Amino acid sequence: METVTVLGAGYVGLTTAACLAHLGHRVHAIDADAARVHRLQAGEIDLLEPGLPEMVRAHQQTGHLSFSTDPGSRIGGSDAVLLCLPTPARVDGSADLAAVRSWLPHLRRHLSPGRRIILKSTVPPGTQRQLVTVLDRPDIAMISNPEFLREGHAIHDWLNPDRIVIGADEPESTRYLSSLYTSLDAPVVETDPTSAELIKYAANTFLALKITYANTLAELCEHIGANITDVRTGIGHDPRIGNTYLDAGPGWGGPCLPKDVRALVSTGTRTTTDLGLLHALLETNAYHQRRIVTLVEQLLPRPLTGARVAVLGLAFKAATNDLRDSPALHIANLLAARRAHVTAYDPAIDASATPTAGQLTLTESATAAVAGADVVLVLTEWPEFAELPWHHLARDMRGDVVLDTRGKLDRTLLRGAGLHLRTLGEPFSEIAAARTA
Ligand code: UGA
Repeated sequence: METVTVLGAGYVGLTTAACLAHLGHRVHAIDADAARVHRLQAGEIDLLEPGLPEMVRAHQQTGHLSFSTDPGSRIGGSDAVLLCLPTPARVDGSADLAAVRSWLPHLRRHLSPGRRIILKSTVPPGTQRQLVTVLDRPDIAMISNPEFLREGHAIHDWLNPDRIVIGADEPESTRYLSSLYTSLDAPVVETDPTSAELIKYAANTFLALKITYANTLAELCEHIGANITDVRTGIGHDPRIGNTYLDAGPGWGGPCLPKDVRALVSTGTRTTTDLGLLHALLETNAYHQRRIVTLVEQLLPRPLTGARVAVLGLAFKAATNDLRDSPALHIANLLAARRAHVTAYDPAIDASATPTAGQLTLTESATAAVAGADVVLVLTEWPEFAELPWHHLARDMRGDVVLDTRGKLDRTLLRGAGLHLRTLGEPFSEIAAARTA
């Protein structure tokens, strides 16, 4: 059993702390946000993450997991300190390392000789080397060990990793991490710290590229009369391509992919590497978000200005209440900026506690959002949207069209309710035919 400190109790930090306690270690998590720490001490977890609150509370009760704001008392007695601190994007897209750097004086002062720092924050390639210089403690190993968990699947992904990437200069670091992650069964990629840092950005950027490729193909399908679902299946069977991250949608978003692609572009700029492909990626993703607004406009029987648009889903994906860089929220705001009356509902968002601007109003139910709508726009793939009483909702609508950007609704069910279902990447003549009939 190791005694470890986790710095940062956000998504990655809290999951890491809980899972390390689950593996049998004694874990203390420190966060600079006193209010968050007080809530955690009381067993209150703000994140919507399946299984995480239960795991945190269980290990608090056994005494294997504790929280505080005080670095001094715990860092000194730790075998290792894991850095799980945020690295948000600066205005120019580069990663802001202020939170990571702010802990270096504490680590320099309190860490005992021979201990390790494990860098799990997503940081630009070359950061570990810079931090080692600033830390100026040659007796402490700093290991780059990026995390690949997805929101909504955090515990599963942490405990069942596809791979464990270890970027270190000392072979002993791999032995140490193997003992820390004792029962995790995954291939280990041993490399240097800079390559480990790049692996994290390269992985997220590749996922973004795949999704954007699917969105591009979906638009092409609409123009040539092909079907994206079949095309996706057809290419996905090729193991060199794989069948995940090919779901067409309203563009990718969330707290990680947009930030990481921008940070990689920024690394390219800094090192005068031609990353034109990634510039195109960012532009194309923004285009696919704007394209949804254009589709709504085309589906409406009246001008967008003054039209009533019901938005179902605001979180950046299902199973989370995270609105950071959410394509759904962005599209809802774009519609409101065009002076549409937008009423939005998301099962994980508290309408009364979430501030909105302009003509965007949040509601507490799908029924309230859809009432009087000229068009319904599904932006997050919550399974419950497929289960809504569409017959009942259709009666309250002013229009008869549903644009499902996630492709999760049942066409037959909606047709039975008298609604036209428009999806991405499928030929669509239904409404035009209905309107001219
Ligand atoms: C992402 C990565 O998947 C994780 O491996 C990584 O550890 C994490 O970022 C991170 O850097 O911390 P996450 O942000 O939770 O995880 O989100 P994803 O599930 O990857 O989804 C990202 C975006 O792509 C969402 O907007 C989602 O709706 C969209 N998406 C995903 C699609 O539009 N189509 C798909 O087929 C898959």
